[in-house]
Amino acid sequence: MDFVPNNIVWNNNYITKEDRVKYLSYKPCILWFTGLSGSGKSTIANAVESKLYKMGTKTYLLDGDNIRHGLNKDLGFSEKDRTENIRRISEVAKLFVDSGTIVLAAFISPFQRDRKLARMLVNKDEFIEIFIDTSLKICKQRDPKGLYKKVEVGQIKNFTGIDSPYEVPTNPEIHLKTDELTIEQASDKVINYLKSFNYLKDLNR
Ligand code: ADX
Repeated sequence: MDFVPNNIVWNNNYITKEDRVKYLSYKPCILWFTGLSGSGKSTIANAVESKLYKMGTKTYLLDGDNIRHGLNKDLGFSEKDRTENIRRISEVAKLFVDSGTIVLAAFISPFQRDRKLARMLVNKDEFIEIFIDTSLKICKQRDPKGLYKKVEVGQIKNFTGIDSPYEVPTNPEIHLKTDELTIEQASDKVINYLKSFNYLKDLNR
């Protein structure tokens, strides 16, 4: 994994991130949504993205299930594969920030060290960790994709929260307790965070 290729140099592009950002009325960053399967990551990320879109920012949503249909379709759910999944997504997210986009990444991302590595790839204020805090009990009740039922009858192994760990974020920038919040309130909290820390500085809509 720490393989550094021989005979490869880094090319400096003429147009830099600073150049691209100059024309923007918002600050590009990664909104990293983490939580159990069925916790509401994708739903809340979609609601946040819709609000940002209406405000005129350029956004892109990277979603666990979707990325596993393409870029990461060679990966499963072992610890090693999940780590590789998050590593690739982190690099992609970094490129999106570099391009001048607010990128929303919605992945279980169960391991602290993988989320930390994602954070380390960008500047300190470019990574906003959002913990979608929904209890396993509620996720099981909702079971939007019928996966928890499959786990119960032994059709899926290594399922997060059941027989594969989820390491709770210790210091997320935003903590959304979904049993106390509607989707509207949860997404507003994210938007308000971005406003209060000046990510949406020249957008007064
Ligand atoms: S992660 O752990 O590597 O971050 P990711 O977010 O990409 O996971 O994908 C999670 C989605 O894959 C879940 O929402 C669920 O729909 C599906 N899935 C299938 N098998 C599993 C499993 N064993 N554990 C968790 N999610 C699974």
